[in-house]
Formats: sequence, C-alpha cells, structure tokens
Amino acid sequence: MAKIHTIRVEPLTAAIKALVRGFGSSPREVDLVTENLVQANLTGHDSHGIGMLPRYSEAYVEGGLKANAHVKTTLDGGAMLSLDGQAGFGQVIGHEAMEMGIARAKEYGTCILALGNSHHLCRIGAWAEMAVAENLISIHFTNVISRPIVAPFGGGDARFGTNPFTVGIPVPGGEPILLDFATSVMAQGKARVAYNKGEQMPAGRLIDEKGHPTTDPKFAVVAPHGAIVTFGEHKGYGLAVVCELLGGALAAGMACREPATGEKRVLNGMLTIIFDPAKLASGALFGSEMKAFLEWVKASPPQPGFDRVRLAGEPEREMRAKRMAEGIPVDETTWGEILTAAERLKVSPVEINRLAGI
Ligand SMILES: NC(=O)c1ccc[n+]([C@@H]2O[C@H](COP(=O)([O-])OP(=O)(O)OC[C@H]3O[C@@H](n4cnc5c(N)ncnc54)[C@H](O)[C@@H]3O)[C@@H](O)[C@H]2O)c1
Repeated sequence: MAKIHTIRVEPLTAAIKALVRGFGSSPREVDLVTENLVQANLTGHDSHGIGMLPRYSEAYVEGGLKANAHVKTTLDGGAMLSLDGQAGFGQVIGHEAMEMGIARAKEYGTCILALGNSHHLCRIGAWAEMAVAENLISIHFTNVISRPIVAPFGGGDARFGTNPFTVGIPVPGGEPILLDFATSVMAQGKARVAYNKGEQMPAGRLIDEKGHPTTDPKFAVVAPHGAIVTFGEHKGYGLAVVCELLGGALAAGMACREPATGEKRVLNGMLTIIFDPAKLASGALFGSEMKAFLEWVKASPPQPGFDRVRLAGEPEREMRAKRMAEGIPVDETTWGEILTAAERLKVSPVEINRLAGI
C-alpha cells in the first residue's frame, strides 16, 4: 500500500495553481484548470483530478496540448453551434463552449452544441453542472481520441476509449440529478489509481494482452496493454458506440480508428444537447412528478450491505462535503508524478511541496 498524503483544499489549490502556471497559462486559465481538477478530486473522482497533470505536462511538451487557446466557432446556426477547441485545455474549452450553449438555450429554448478538438474535457459532469445551475437540462455524448483502451462486447482487444455519457437534470426545490459515467466498466484513471497504490481491481473489469480476464490494473496502464470491458455487457458497448458516433464522428469529425500513436495528448469530442424544461412542459407539473418519483424510488428498503438508496449525483455531493472537511487523499506515487511534472514545466518541486504543506 502506497503512502497517502491528505491535503486540505486551500493548500492543494495553491500548489496546483503554481504548477499550472508552468504551462504559461493566463491567470484565468490557471484558475479554471486548477478548480476543475481539484473539484474532480473533491467529488471523489481522483481518476480525473490533479493526477491528470503529469499526462497534460507531457502532452504540452510534445505540442499536443496548447496553452491559452479558446473555442473557435466553425458553424453558427442559432440553436445549433459547432465549435473547435483548438487543442486547448478542456477546462477552458469546455467552460467557454458551455457558456455559449447555455446562452443559446436561454435564447432559443434549446441548443445543440458540437465540440471537437478539445484537449481532455475531464469530468464531463462539471459541464452538466453549469447547465443545471441555470435550470437547464443537458445531455452529453463524449468520445476520446487517445490510445484505444476499451474492448467491444465479445472482442479481445481495445478499439475505442472510455466514452462517457452524462445527463444533468435540475430538480425544483431539490438536488439535481447528475448522471455521469464512463461506458467502460470503470474510468481508465481508476486503473491508474489502483496501479499507483499497488492494488488489484475487482474481477470482470479487465482483459490482458491475450484477451483473457485479469484483475491486474497494469494491463490498462503499461505495456503490454490489454483492455477494459464495457459496463452492462452489450448495453454499455452500444452506448459507447453511440458516444463515438455522436461525440466523435459527428461533433468532432474525429473517431477512433487506429491503434496507439504514442502521442500523449487526449482529445475529446462532445455532442451536447441543452434545453429549458420550462419551455417543454409545465414547470410545476414536471417538478411535482419528478419529486414524487424520486421520493418513491428513495423509499425502497435498502438491501443488506447498503445504508440507503441514493440518486445519481448524491455520492459526489457526500464526498465533496467529506473532503472539504477532512482534506483530499493523494497517494505518494501520484504526488511524485506531480513533482516530476513540475520539473518538466520548470516549476520548483520544493515550492510545490511547500505550498501543499508536504
Ligand atoms: N473526459 C474523458 O475523456 C472521460 C472519459 C471517461 C470518464 N470520464 C469521467 O470520469 C468520471 C468517472 O466516471 P466513472 O465511470 O468512473 O464513474 P462512476 O462509476 O463512479 O459512476 C458515477 C455515476 O454513478 C452515480 N452513482 C455512483 N454510485 C451511486 C449509487 N450508489 N447510487 C446512485 N448513483 C450512483 C454517480 O452519482 C455518477 O452519476 C466521470 O466524471 C466521467 O465524466 C471522462
């Protein structure tokens, strides 16, 4: 078991901002990248938190990730927008794209937003949260252009990425529904976290380089590579294909079609549908029907091993409250990789440690 540093949000944020400045980013970019990554850790998704920065630093040095890039509009059809992320930080590109999509959805009642060529958009739920905060529903189909790491149902090697599917629904007078998951049985970063901690994965998640089931996370992290399987067998596989077709082929003009190129950059394509539920149905009726259904579902008696029934978005809110109070656990291997990334970006690792209180 690797050593764990538990770092409170403020010092961790200060340390990560110092690191992100090493990309030559504007103060706004430093804030957006840092806040997005720390929020991912706060919600419990360490796979999409500060541990992404070593990969980002390698992609930046290779030229696959561009600092200070902004979205470029390639097609403006009013309620339909097509945007190019210009290989910029997904934390900036995603934010700017959602700001535009939300403004259009407020104007027209809906916006279909096609985004391509964005560097890693990270936790897609963050983009759904932006729409939900404006009382809008948003649905996201996302593909991943990187080394293929997920096997098709029945296939023995990797053919596409972890293609997340995400829906945010505001609930009047209640907490929103935030459904946000990879169509692989787990996010790839979860294998990296387990590998860094020296832990095995549960059965049924991975195949090795020969296509045989394994519990060793190394097959998703280092060569010789195996693959992660999709969730729900053929069902998750089908949804992954839809994400690739809509988020990749349609929104980005870029679908997964070849083995690893060895490049470190991770690009996402994302098709987002944003709409105002109040323009589609009576807000009061929709709200009361939702509330009644959600209460009915939550009243289900818990099975042995469960304390209660939860709704999508609840585990993240609970984890955020816990980690805000107690700090964010970061394993020694991940922290070591962050310090190496600092060196790569000509930022003093001693200063990063000092800011983090390590
Ligand atoms: N940018 C990319 O390329 C990329 C690729 C893959 C995944 N991701 C991100 O990775 C993150 C993690 O994905 P994941 O598949 O590991 O997520 P996960 O398996 O932890 O599932 C998360 C979803 O399930 C819900 N959930 C969890 N436990 C629940 C319970 N007990 N009851 C009800 N609902 C519950 C959560 O609220 C959330 O909506 C996501 O934010 C996703 O967007 C990004």
